[in-house]
Amino acid sequence: MALPVMAVSCAEKVIGTEVDVIPQPASVEVYEGTFNAAGASFKADEALGGLAMDAIARFEQNLVSASSSESGTSGTHFVFTRDDSLGDEEYVLSVSGKKAHIKASALNGVLYAIETVKQLLPVEIYTGAPAPDADWTIPCMKIQDKPRFGYRGMHLDVSRHFFDMDEVKKYLDIMAIHKLNVFHWHLTDDQGWRLEIKKYPQLTEVGSVRNKTLVGHARDSRKYDNTPYGEGCWFSQDQVREIIDYAAARGIEVIPEIDLPGHMLAALATFPELGCTGGPYEVWGRWGIAEDVLCAGKESTMEFLEDVLSEVADLFPSEYVHIGGDECPKVRWENCPDCQAKIKELGYKDDDKHTAEQYLQTYVMNRMEKFLESKGKKVIGWDEILEGEVAPNATIMSWRGVEGGREAVKLGHDAIMVPTEYFYFDYYQSRDIENEPFGIGGYVPVEKVYSFEPFTDDMTDEEKSHIIGVQANIWTEYITSDSHLEYMLLPRMSALSEVQWCAPENKDYERFLNNMESMAGIYDILGYNYARHIFTDRK
Ligand code: ACM
Ligand code: ZN
Repeated sequence: MALPVMAVSCAEKVIGTEVDVIPQPASVEVYEGTFNAAGASFKADEALGGLAMDAIARFEQNLVSASSSESGTSGTHFVFTRDDSLGDEEYVLSVSGKKAHIKASALNGVLYAIETVKQLLPVEIYTGAPAPDADWTIPCMKIQDKPRFGYRGMHLDVSRHFFDMDEVKKYLDIMAIHKLNVFHWHLTDDQGWRLEIKKYPQLTEVGSVRNKTLVGHARDSRKYDNTPYGEGCWFSQDQVREIIDYAAARGIEVIPEIDLPGHMLAALATFPELGCTGGPYEVWGRWGIAEDVLCAGKESTMEFLEDVLSEVADLFPSEYVHIGGDECPKVRWENCPDCQAKIKELGYKDDDKHTAEQYLQTYVMNRMEKFLESKGKKVIGWDEILEGEVAPNATIMSWRGVEGGREAVKLGHDAIMVPTEYFYFDYYQSRDIENEPFGIGGYVPVEKVYSFEPFTDDMTDEEKSHIIGVQANIWTEYITSDSHLEYMLLPRMSALSEVQWCAPENKDYERFLNNMESMAGIYDILGYNYARHIFTDRK
């Protein structure tokens, strides 16, 4: 008997093209009908790998607990299959009345599919808190999803103020909800060295503690609390491995930053011979740009850096190591016999673009790049490393606006956009700073974050392909507690995630604000502190 011909079955009539998910998936078709997740059975292809199986098991466990229904009792099914035609971060979710079918080729695709499904379910899915009376159905639909950018980063400074294992893990959890995949861990700075280096245990014994911390804003204060800060505030290499594993299970790569040759007072206080003057130096108790930097003229300084970076390269499995390069005043080098001798030896001279001392910095950066390349690593540096002869394979992190990123891609380098005026989450989120937690200044509201477009009109397609992603940064001079940190992060990270994930045509600020109501429910159930301006401003 011939079946009746229907171009589209009733169930596949498209009734919507958006879902209440942040970041909004690339392609959505919502159909009539629903799928009951409560009591669904789970079947997963082991070829997806152990971490994916663990993630699926965690999801199943929370679903059973929150819906108060045992798996396999509803006649519906979650099925996870491996499909190698998809990219590592891509997934396809096909939901019909009986089956939610997830296809992915690797861990990240599986994680992002699960995250999308979780956002469509009652918020109790995030904790497993019983909510048997909630609506555990999701609409029938087809989602085909993948990110716009492969590098979707979030940075955290743990030097100025320390955030411990639990807070770093919570930070990674928050990143995972937003489908971010790079944690940029700023581990050393003038105010504290926070990474164990086996060859130099003094770095954390001495360099992690400052004797005092500025009270008030660096702009106008000379007052200190005269209280030591930082005793025991550092990460052992075992703890770092624990964080790396925790992040990896959430599809996140951890990129360490050892900021050099400036921002090194903690190391100088530990080993004064690494400086131009020999000190004495102190782990800094104030904020800003210190004139004392590593001496670039001494071979012993280079050996120190190579020792440190050698342990860093061994410890972190990441493709990249960030070697800083920002805010390195040259006044000590100008007056240092060793630095001047090195400049002479290398034949550097002032020219109409750069000073000899700027070229000396490129010598340091290039040398460290070469060293790390010998260890199988690529380097990232702040955009100052474009001043002089930029290290040949360096990726540029463009923070002083987008100019550095533009220049980098025109030179054929990769670039990551982190411009202060869009992505410095230590800046205020409101003009009403009297009623905000104390901060560094600036003004970066959620809408501004959301509005960022990393490609500029004058970029060719080839140049655009070198913009590998976008990141936001949190510097912690004025952020002293976990709850303050979360407040600065949220909800701006939600806006960041759509910049990183969504094609421009899929961005829509009004739709995003509507979806933020549900995201706030997730923040609430997980106990995250967050700024509420976007909600109160709408009312
Ligand atoms: C920076 O904010 N100094 C990279
Ligand atoms: Zn010197």
